[in-house]
Amino acid sequence: MRKKVAIIGAGNVGATVAQLVVMEGLADVVLYDIVEGMPQGKALDMYEATPLWGVDVKVVGTNDLSEIRDSHIVVITAGAARKPGMSRDDLLQTNAKVVASVSKVLPELCPDAIVIVVTNPMDVMAQLCWQITGFPHKRVMGMGGVLDSARFRSFVADRLGVSVQDTEALVLGGHGDQMVPMPRFTTVRGVSITELLSKKEIDALIERTRYGGAEIVSLLKTGSAYYAPAASTLQMLKAVLLDEKRLLPAAAYLDGEYGIKGLFIGVPVVLGAEGVERVVELQLTEEEKGFFEGSVKAVRGLVEKLKSFVVF
Ligand code: LAC
Repeated sequence: MRKKVAIIGAGNVGATVAQLVVMEGLADVVLYDIVEGMPQGKALDMYEATPLWGVDVKVVGTNDLSEIRDSHIVVITAGAARKPGMSRDDLLQTNAKVVASVSKVLPELCPDAIVIVVTNPMDVMAQLCWQITGFPHKRVMGMGGVLDSARFRSFVADRLGVSVQDTEALVLGGHGDQMVPMPRFTTVRGVSITELLSKKEIDALIERTRYGGAEIVSLLKTGSAYYAPAASTLQMLKAVLLDEKRLLPAAAYLDGEYGIKGLFIGVPVVLGAEGVERVVELQLTEEEKGFFEGSVKAVRGLVEKLKSFVVF
């Protein structure tokens, strides 16, 4: 039997994730949205492309959430995107309602699914989804670190005039303005950028990475990034679907690791068929610890704020 992937939200990110999954022939896809006709139209258009893409999967669009029944992976992208000048955190109240209403039906419709949360503010939305579904925490994760690391990689490659393929990067912490790009673990063919660039140059790349999402929002004006977010989601989805055991940064539930308990935040994890199969603990320097703790504080603040809203 082919695997089934449900994508909640057929906006730019959701539809692009669907396209990538279908183009790679990875799984059947159900694309859900509340807007009438829109997910159906996008899905039909994609299905009509499958003879040309040389793949044999089904893709359907729907306004009926029950059609996601028995999906192996659920990707939640639904919610509002930022407008220029907004931070991801400004979306908290609006998007919590959306994520809560979807999460509520998952235990009944997809009791064994692994959930990848993309909706912003992502770390808090992953936490909310986990709380509402009651799923084991390894089956809920948030997409942010892969995207932030990809941005960091692309900026490093551009600055040094090397192939992006020869770069690696690691960004920890929440997927917000306090994210923690880690120069020590950001390398060109294994050589740390701390050996290749001055502190001032690295700081400029870190700053650009932190505000990478906002840079796109300010250019697009009517929405936020979607090609890189969708490609990042695909990398995580594939790691789970194909049991790849990839070591990737993702928002995962910490149960004492990094001295944090009961919070979803970005750390390196091993992703495989069971979801977050392992949290990888790095020895951080005092400076790195300080940045990471700042990011934890920001995410905790949002979790507290969320408690004051009636979301379900
Ligand atoms: C970004 C949004 C997707 O970083 O969070 O572009």
